[in-house]
Amino acid sequence: MKDWQMIKPHGGSLINRIVGHTDREQLLQEADSMQPILVDAWTISDIELIGIGAFSPLEGFMTETDYQSVVERMRLSDGTIWSIPITLSVDPQIVPFIEIGDRVALRGREDSIVYAVLTVESIYEVNQEEEALQVFRTNDLAHPGVAKLKSKSPFRIGGPVQVLNRITNDSFQAYRYDPQETRAIFESKGWRTVVGFQTRNPVHRAHEYIQKTAMEIVDGLFLNPLVGETKSDDIAADVRMHSYEVLLDRYYPQDRVFLGVFPAAMRYAGPREAIFHAIVRKNYGCTHFIVGRDHAGVGDYYGTYEAQEIFHQFTQEELGISPLFFEHSFYCNKCGNMASSKTCPHPQTDHVHLSGTKVRQMLKEGIMPPVQFTRPEVAGILIEGVKQQLDRTVII
Ligand code: ADX
Repeated sequence: MKDWQMIKPHGGSLINRIVGHTDREQLLQEADSMQPILVDAWTISDIELIGIGAFSPLEGFMTETDYQSVVERMRLSDGTIWSIPITLSVDPQIVPFIEIGDRVALRGREDSIVYAVLTVESIYEVNQEEEALQVFRTNDLAHPGVAKLKSKSPFRIGGPVQVLNRITNDSFQAYRYDPQETRAIFESKGWRTVVGFQTRNPVHRAHEYIQKTAMEIVDGLFLNPLVGETKSDDIAADVRMHSYEVLLDRYYPQDRVFLGVFPAAMRYAGPREAIFHAIVRKNYGCTHFIVGRDHAGVGDYYGTYEAQEIFHQFTQEELGISPLFFEHSFYCNKCGNMASSKTCPHPQTDHVHLSGTKVRQMLKEGIMPPVQFTRPEVAGILIEGVKQQLDRTVII
């Protein structure tokens, strides 16, 4: 008999909004006569994440009351911590045709597939400036999250969803696990403590260092790279996945790490996104979550440790999951190992530091970043991947 309990999902229970086999055909038929709402890949990934319970306790897209509460105080209207609006934008022309109580069909813009049926509980217009300032701390259109927000209609509808189709694109199928599955897997491995690692980048030496430092104190690592929409100059998810496979194979103990994709879109909301990332990983069964330097940041919009400081606004009991904070890490030539300002006494001139822009430039030119920065096996895959990405862009 097991004498320990898996960590509880956020809000207490794992939501499942995927429609069962017996009701699915019927609902699909009914959806044919419902008002269609066309949804893009970003929204389809939100539908999927709500459906599988990764966004527990959300059962659908936020109503106006929850939305306002999240924007203003990082809590749902019932007080549960939630830091990022999960909302559904609708074209202004369609708004007059929707009423509270209606059921609408959320159809893929590209493929016309009915991904879900939403029961309308709320129809509202948001103040995008206000949302940008609260969520992203800027309304600068050069910020990718702000640009995305402002590219959408300010009209939103909210209400519970019933999910009829999962993401059809089957890339990374071997690494797609629902929270229910990861929970069962961690439990079967006997992992009482699991640290979640969010990334939208290749795993460089600094990432590896903080993961392995965390692995010294927990039972397992859940490497959970985000594979939803990212900004165009981030390394493509398929290239990253290949690099993770090789890295895990060569440098990680197989029985202490588990790789599964996180199909969400990247918001680049820095501090608020760090809270969101942590809560969602709790739903996947993680007890701990790594927050390093400038987590989910972009450009210079956030201070290096703001994504850590925001956690102090909430109590450990409310969050449930324990954040593990890491200083900016680097390779120190004098120490001869990875370190941070907490462990290394030497000046910056002894540290190997490369900016993201510099690394991308090197990869484009086919130059291997130094081994102190990236494992050669990873660098090789990235150079090849970036080359193919460039070729594709040229052909298009
Ligand atoms: S993120 O947008 O997903 O946060 P990235 O994949 O680069 O970007 O980072 C993944 C995690 O590693 C984040 O928690 C980030 O703070 C952390 N991290 C990245 N680079 C470093 C570093 N050099 N030192 C410490 N933490 C880092």
